[in-house]
Amino acid sequence: MRIKTLRSAIEWAKDKGVALGHFNISDISAFHAITKAAKELGVPIIIGTSEGEADYIDLDVAMAMVIDARKELDHPIFLNADHFRSLEKVREAVIAGYDSVIFDAAGQSIDENIEKTKEVVDLVKTIDKEIFVEGELGYIGESSKIFEEIPEGVEIVRDALPIPEDVARFVKETGVDLIAPAVGNLHGMFKDAPNPKLDIDLIKSIGVSAGVPMVLHGGSGISDEDFKSAIEAGMRIIHVNTEIRVAWREGIEDALEDKSKIAPYKVFPESEDKIYKIVLDRLKLFNGML
Ligand code: 13P
Repeated sequence: MRIKTLRSAIEWAKDKGVALGHFNISDISAFHAITKAAKELGVPIIIGTSEGEADYIDLDVAMAMVIDARKELDHPIFLNADHFRSLEKVREAVIAGYDSVIFDAAGQSIDENIEKTKEVVDLVKTIDKEIFVEGELGYIGESSKIFEEIPEGVEIVRDALPIPEDVARFVKETGVDLIAPAVGNLHGMFKDAPNPKLDIDLIKSIGVSAGVPMVLHGGSGISDEDFKSAIEAGMRIIHVNTEIRVAWREGIEDALEDKSKIAPYKVFPESEDKIYKIVLDRLKLFNGML
């Protein structure tokens, strides 16, 4: 593929009316699974590391894995610092060579969020103008895990969600390249129930006035129908993490049933395979192939 930058990948998605998949990793098995699925389908892909995931893998190691896979697979693979919460961590990711950073001050008031996000935009753009900065408006929780009930403070009803005017103001005053508004989505998924429905009308109206591409977080547990409508309404990147973590664990559990298996490189491929199937499915849906 000719796509060389995240900017052109997002343009590509916009032209085609599709969304780029963003999947988080903590290890090499998820990384292999995600890049393999993207290469097979011929679609650009974004790999994400949260602060915790990045601390575990190491920012430079994550970057080295991406650089190596770009070359090996000759494929557009981008790396995103996902929900970073301090200027220092953002600076480290930018210096490591990440393509984008998401600064998450969504739990704070809109004025504080604007002030802090603008500081991040100013810092990142001083180092490299091409690195994308994403801001978040509306609190959708913080944990990619399985819930019994909606986590405290998460906003999913229309009255609590950001209005299009607030989103437009946030984008204008901070100078972010991408915006992740809360639209009924939340991080994590429920054990035995689908996630709440997205507010598709709100996505449409935010899309009209936001001025920058929109990103949907909290992809795990969202129905196929909601995904399709959200993409039609203008979402250009979709994040999935919890489903990957669940698949990773199931793969490890299956592999460890054979007590004689002790070589990690014989255990991890079972996780890789389970993650691959999920990512392939999600990428087909996000890229209009289903
Ligand atoms: P889920 O864990 O709900 O898929 O959300 C992931 C996410 O938004 C990471 O940024």
